[in-house]
Amino acid sequence: MRTPIIAGNWKMNMTGAQGAALVKALVPLVKDAKCEVVLCPPFTALFDVNNALEHTNIKLGAQNVHWEQKGAFTGEVSAEMLKALGVSYAIIGHSERRQYFGETDETVNSRAKAALKAGIIPIICVGESLSQREAGETDAFVSRQTVNALSSISQAEVEKLVIAYEPIWAIGTGRTASSEQANETIGVVRGAVRGLYGEETASKVRILYGGSMNPKNASALMAMDELDGGLIGGASLLAEDFAAVINF
Ligand code: 13P
Repeated sequence: MRTPIIAGNWKMNMTGAQGAALVKALVPLVKDAKCEVVLCPPFTALFDVNNALEHTNIKLGAQNVHWEQKGAFTGEVSAEMLKALGVSYAIIGHSERRQYFGETDETVNSRAKAALKAGIIPIICVGESLSQREAGETDAFVSRQTVNALSSISQAEVEKLVIAYEPIWAIGTGRTASSEQANETIGVVRGAVRGLYGEETASKVRILYGGSMNPKNASALMAMDELDGGLIGGASLLAEDFAAVINF
């Protein structure tokens, strides 16, 4: 019912030329993919990667988007600017942005609304720290992040967007959440959406897992009923590994 998405988050890796070379290697490996495939390069590689993606089944995403349309916001990039570069998805509220760059639930919400207004699909990230998991706070925390991220977003818009559950302790650590842990917490995130918008909307929102997802664990994760795809960091930087996740 929900089309799965496998999205690659290159984080602060890849020049335009390096990104285009990776796309060239990736395209033939994933041309028959049964899921939606998205690549999220850094801003500076969007132009070259977009050119390389022409006439392929891979879509372009950004790693952030500002909430204002234009103006005196040095160093920021608007949704309209991204749209003009061929961007159709934007990662919003990644834990690295929350941790290192002062991203809050409120700015995540503002960015998501700006993206939707420009016709860009937000991939909103939520996820708990290790200490929160150990203290039994995971469900309450990810529910609150989800509710806050969706504040004053209409039902019709929520049905279009994507949420990524990324436990912070699993990101870049090689310590993946078990399939059951991922499925259970994604169920909690979906429950938060259900509480706000009802069952029909909750059943349409695609919720991804992210955190050390790789060719070895992808098929077990993708077999879980709540999990609608993956947001892949490290394993998206090598064409063969990313293709193996996509063709799980
Ligand atoms: P890794 O796949 O490298 O753990 O990163 C996950 C992530 O943060 C994707 O946004």
